[in-house]
Amino acid sequence: MNEEMNVSDAINYRRSVRIFDKKNIDSEKVKNCLVNASLAANSSNLQLWEFVHIENKKILKKLSNVCFNQNAAKTANQMVVVVVRKDLWKERAKWNIKQINKQSIESDITIKRLNQAKTYYNKIIPTLYFDVFGFLGILKNLIFQTIGLFRPTMRQVTRTDTRIVAHKSAALAAQNFMISMAGFGYDTCPMEGSDTLRVKKILNLNKKAEISMVIACGLRTEKGIYGKQLRVPFDEIYTYI
Ligand SMILES: Cc1cc2nc3c(=O)[nH]c(=O)nc-3n(C[C@H](O)[C@H](O)[C@H](O)COP(=O)(O)O)c2cc1C
Repeated sequence: MNEEMNVSDAINYRRSVRIFDKKNIDSEKVKNCLVNASLAANSSNLQLWEFVHIENKKILKKLSNVCFNQNAAKTANQMVVVVVRKDLWKERAKWNIKQINKQSIESDITIKRLNQAKTYYNKIIPTLYFDVFGFLGILKNLIFQTIGLFRPTMRQVTRTDTRIVAHKSAALAAQNFMISMAGFGYDTCPMEGSDTLRVKKILNLNKKAEISMVIACGLRTEKGIYGKQLRVPFDEIYTYI
């Protein structure tokens, strides 16, 4: 399939596929889908993610093993590991300031907006992300919850909260990736069923990296889709106000 599908078609086409065909998929196209992944909305544009794209058969076999030899992992033609790098927050905040400064020279961004952005990355982001073994988070939580008694305030300030924030953004990137793959007629299966410590060791990842998802990739087989796509009735989960 060369034509790319439109977004709704790709969303409808995407299914979690557990048994992939033996045919190869084009790794350049997979890489393009990862570029699309990196365009996902993400918290504070900190982009606390990395994507590891695996085609090497030996590594695929090792990964399959630590994904408990699930069918999707065993039959995957390629894999993508979505990695969360919350530890990069300081570098990425600096990077954002640099880009905003550059933009201010190249375009007519107002001084007010420039200063707002700088305050955001110099003050607010460190307030949220800086922590010492989680202790500061407990204190911040107390302060912010107290402020919250009197006015609206940020409440996600503990170390766990910011981990969730980083994982949320990585998951959005994973979804962008899977929809893009579907757009090319390629299939995926996201897997949290893995020994994440061993995944990290196999891929030689940074000690502070966390695994969001291992995504098996390939082409679907008929038996690889385990039944109809099941969802609770939409009315049960939809509220219109
Ligand atoms: C975060 C996450 C983790 C998942 N982990 C696994 C997994 O380890 N193994 C698996 O076979 N499917 C896994 N799935 C796939 C879900 O089971 C699947 O998305 C769900 O049943 C809905 O089916 P559909 O994707 O075909 O719509 C995972 C999905 C997500 C989003």
